[in-house]
Amino acid sequence: MARRVTQDTYFKRAKEDGYLARSAYKLKQLHDRFDLVPKGGRVLDLGCAPGSWMQVGAELIGKSGIIVGVDLRPVDLKLDCEFHTIEADINDLDPEQLKELVGGPFDAVLSDVAPNTTGHGDDLRSAHLCRAVLKVAEHTLRPGGRLGMKIFDGAEFQDVLNETRILFQQVKSYKPDATRNMSRETYIVARNFRGARLTP
Ligand SMILES: C[S@@+](CC[C@H](N)C(=O)[O-])C[C@H]1O[C@@H](n2cnc3c(N)ncnc32)[C@H](O)[C@@H]1O
Repeated sequence: MARRVTQDTYFKRAKEDGYLARSAYKLKQLHDRFDLVPKGGRVLDLGCAPGSWMQVGAELIGKSGIIVGVDLRPVDLKLDCEFHTIEADINDLDPEQLKELVGGPFDAVLSDVAPNTTGHGDDLRSAHLCRAVLKVAEHTLRPGGRLGMKIFDGAEFQDVLNETRILFQQVKSYKPDATRNMSRETYIVARNFRGARLTP
């Protein structure tokens, strides 16, 4: 009988594998299914602290890739590729500066950004953050680029999915196994950025 993979298993596995958080396996599972992070690519990781997605992202892009992480909180990590961390609110980013930092537009934007949960209106705060992520993505991605973005399922989920479809040719939602079963969090995965700009 196959061994049941519990949430505790991911926590233990992260410790054994040297990842800073169990969420590392969410990105691994998203990538395994949707090929989100291209080898040698430029990757922008929004809401990156403590840094396990940056660790996984760095493994996937390899030594020739570049990864930039942004979070309200400071991040302390070492990676085998070029990387930059920026302590900032994703609402305050300057897309041109981000692209200048890595020498061109990004191949993939990742977002594990989550609001502080209070039990009231968490889904609405998550949707609001997703719109900020979409705005950053539309101004930093190359045409054909990819997006993986966390969202809490709720009242505005379908609207955010539709807004993502305006920007990308292929859009799906997916809940990786490493996401806690009871959690409302899920991911929107989008490929083939159309290159269109909807916001100034
Ligand atoms: C679930 S954690 C990310 C975990 C990370 N992917 C990892 O694997 O280590 C969500 C992060 O979103 C960040 N965050 C929330 N709102 C933000 C905002 N407006 N701007 C930047 N970061 C934000 C939080 O500080 C938190 O570190």
